[in-house]
Amino acid sequence: MFGFTVKAVAEGEFKEAQEALLAELRALGIRDERVLSAMARVPRHLFVPPELVPYAYEDRPLPIGAGQTISQPYIVALSTQALELSPQDRVLEIGTGSGYQAAVLAELAGEVYTVERLPELSQAARKRLEGLGYRNIHFRVGDGTKGWPEAGPFDAILVTAAAPRVPQSLVQQLAEGGRLVIPIGGRESQTLWRMEKRAGRLKKAYLCPCTFVPLIGEEGWR
Ligand SMILES: C[S@@+](CC[C@H](N)C(=O)[O-])C[C@H]1O[C@@H](n2cnc3c(N)ncnc32)[C@H](O)[C@@H]1O
Repeated sequence: MFGFTVKAVAEGEFKEAQEALLAELRALGIRDERVLSAMARVPRHLFVPPELVPYAYEDRPLPIGAGQTISQPYIVALSTQALELSPQDRVLEIGTGSGYQAAVLAELAGEVYTVERLPELSQAARKRLEGLGYRNIHFRVGDGTKGWPEAGPFDAILVTAAAPRVPQSLVQQLAEGGRLVIPIGGRESQTLWRMEKRAGRLKKAYLCPCTFVPLIGEEGWR
């Protein structure tokens, strides 16, 4: 986090739209000012296709190509808030997509490890995030349901694609006291859960209903 400068301050023309979005997130119950400030520092309009830039600060998911989406800002805010990140934390994200969520995590944590199964999305996200000056994000192309064993254990894990059940590899790579946020359910709709590892067991808390694209992999959807 504090070791670099992000050029990523919303340019003048987007400032108003971004402030309106942050006000909307507050009204929806997002209370963690650190999360809201992190989102204020990440220019979402640079993470969406050019034709969708006018909608970048609306509270909705948007297509990013390859049949995938950048998540709804409310879901990004709620998930990030639930992870309760500290500046030294090591975080694993499954589903790099556009790289937007990884940037928000990188604003709040020490190191972010992000895995994406589609090489073209991972490469585009890496280029974008490196261009914005992030030096604490590590990229991998592969099946994120298996986690990133060599980089673990993680203080927090965020899964940004819908899983039929919690991948056991991710549970194994979660540190004691670590937080996991994950959408679980069917292919069409899911529930977003926060889980905390205590004495080797997961303590579950309900966050909200949600709709994510499927998590495809060995411990996800086939
Ligand atoms: C909703 S999008 C992620 C949004 C992203 N976090 C962002 O900020 O733009 C879900 C992503 O998960 C990826 N995905 C699906 N299954 C995966 C797997 N097993 N491992 C890694 N990535 C996966 C998809 O290709 C897609 O890019």
